Amino acid sequence: MRNVKDVREVIPSFKAYSAGLSIGEIKERYGLNNIIKLSSNENPLGASPLVQKVVVDHADEVFRYPRVETPGLVRAIAEKVGVPASRIVAGNGSDDIIDMVIRIKCRPGKDHMLAFDPCYSMYPLQAKLCGVEYRSVPLDEDFGFSLDKLADAADENTAMVVLVTPDNPSGLSITADEIEAFASKLPPQALLVVDEAYIDFVDSYEKYSVVPRLDRMPNTCVMRTMAKAYGLAGLRLGYGIMPEWLADYTLRVRLPFSVNILAEYAGEAALKDETFYKETVRVVVEGRKYFTERLTALGCKVWPSQTNFVMFKPPMDALVLFEKLLQKGIIVRSLEGYDRPDLIRMTIGTEKENRAVVAALEELLA
Ligand SMILES: Cc1ncc(COP(=O)(O)O)c(C=O)c1O
Repeated sequence: MRNVKDVREVIPSFKAYSAGLSIGEIKERYGLNNIIKLSSNENPLGASPLVQKVVVDHADEVFRYPRVETPGLVRAIAEKVGVPASRIVAGNGSDDIIDMVIRIKCRPGKDHMLAFDPCYSMYPLQAKLCGVEYRSVPLDEDFGFSLDKLADAADENTAMVVLVTPDNPSGLSITADEIEAFASKLPPQALLVVDEAYIDFVDSYEKYSVVPRLDRMPNTCVMRTMAKAYGLAGLRLGYGIMPEWLADYTLRVRLPFSVNILAEYAGEAALKDETFYKETVRVVVEGRKYFTERLTALGCKVWPSQTNFVMFKPPMDALVLFEKLLQKGIIVRSLEGYDRPDLIRMTIGTEKENRAVVAALEELLA
């Protein structure tokens, strides 16, 4: 006999997403006032003043539904990235776009997705939820991309291939030349998804982003988020740059008001605030250099990062170090969840935060 609690077989195997420790939890646990949170790759400078102003100015509109297609925001994004607006779909964070594209492109029980392991968790999770087989090829021991192995794993049932570059959690990036050469080896039905969540922080946009060459890469969809360099993680805003046919299907099936009314205003304001954006990138690039040099001097192995975080292996038990940093009010990300308990991922903070973290590490690693 069936009962009301019967659900799709896959559902009970899911665990609620764990976003790591919050500032409130750590304050309470250790009785601390000042917390440095470097665990979620958020913007070190907070939110742009222009964004804060439009959120306040439009607070009285929150009882209204937003416009369904967020035309002003989509136009502003299209202008910024240099593609026609018909190729842009905005969503409730790039997670929303990732979810929709998997559901549109992959046929459950027939197709599979292909990615490196480890990969940003939303890809395997949403594939599983959709009943789509998820195949992975391990990254090298040192987190390098074996692109040939990934291309070899693609066959006539591969509906989607995912590349996260710059990568999370390693911070490593492959070049647009390498991605373009890889794309040319994929079977014709395979959609290449390039997740450029961290593209704002690379040393050279031309060298690393595929967006300027999308006209030559017709089966490619690029995922972007405004949670990092634009400081909108909490408002939730991301977008996809897609082939027109895919953008068309996505707009047909998306939930109608997935970009909320404040995120729409905030997104437009964030794109206008060049000063805040440039200062964010400057602080991140300088902080990244500082962390890389200082951590290396302390005996850590630091992966060369093109993102707003660094991944490192400390010269002591990384889980013990993680706990000791927590006791000092410094929240970083242990990579235990990626089966690498020997590694830590740490977001670049403000100059002051970075100095405080290095001082703490000097004491703990001495
Ligand atoms: C590689 C990658 N893609 C996508 C996202 C999600 O971005 P959003 O907050 O816009 O959903 C993240 C967030 O950390 C990420 O690391």
